Amino acid sequence: MSKQGQNESKPPLQHLAIIMDGNGRWAKKKGLPRIAGHHQGVQAVVQVVDECVKLGIGYLSLFAFSSENWGRPKQEVDALMELLLQFLVSQRQKMLDNGIRLRVIGDRSRLSESVCRALTAAETETAAGRTLTMILALSYGGRDEILRAAKKLAAQTAQGRIDLQSFDSKQFSALLDTQDIPEPDLLIRTSGERRISNFLLWQAAYSELYFTDVLWPDFDTRELHRALEDYRQRKRRFGLTDDQLDSSETLQPQGENPLNSVS
Ligand code: IPE
Ligand code: IPE
Ligand code: MG
Repeated sequence: MSKQGQNESKPPLQHLAIIMDGNGRWAKKKGLPRIAGHHQGVQAVVQVVDECVKLGIGYLSLFAFSSENWGRPKQEVDALMELLLQFLVSQRQKMLDNGIRLRVIGDRSRLSESVCRALTAAETETAAGRTLTMILALSYGGRDEILRAAKKLAAQTAQGRIDLQSFDSKQFSALLDTQDIPEPDLLIRTSGERRISNFLLWQAAYSELYFTDVLWPDFDTRELHRALEDYRQRKRRFGLTDDQLDSSETLQPQGENPLNSVS
């Protein structure tokens, strides 16, 4: 007889990505300063991470701070960085105990030295984690990431290390910050905005999108399950026909467009 282990059933998906939006509006509605919304947002992160571990989801990407967010008032930027440092300290033991591996994507050159140091330390310390890879997008913009990858490609080409004739999208993906991370199956955005705001532009090409009016600090386990249930109803075609998909034995578990392999 099988045990009722929580990780026994198949995980609903491999990679979940979330644009955590609405902290400021949540605070405003309550007559609180914006930073109070960010604080509450951290509680939502903790809940969602715990649930992803329980569900056996392999990768969770969280958009925490965009390249455009640098333009916010210094006081808010500083408070967000401080919150990040506190988060790393408060979650350290839990990450280690639960096998959570931290990965950071984004332009680190814009982050302060102390934040960089704390991030690198947390990444190194949790590197052996095999349960959930938590990807924090910090100082991250999809265009910036693609541009940095293009510059790497140009430099490697100039050094004669690349054969442009055979260079394909898989090789380009390997130049992105997300390198070895599978593409997101589902991308959730909270707070009622229906846009991508420069998140995972390349990687989300075939992600299912889910928008909810719930503000991020109110996003909880129930809301997560609602999104996952919605995802279960989707049919992912990757540009192919239903008949092709029905007869295919090799469905693309990582959201990769099978047409890539034909081109
Ligand atoms: C998302 O909440 C968190 C960050 C962008 C850092 P916002 O701060 O954007 O909250 P709203 O959109 O102003 O309500
Ligand atoms: C996107 O939210 C970035 C993060 C959630 C970190 P924003 O609040 O910055 O996005 P816009 O400005 O509404 O597009
Ligand atoms: Mg916002």
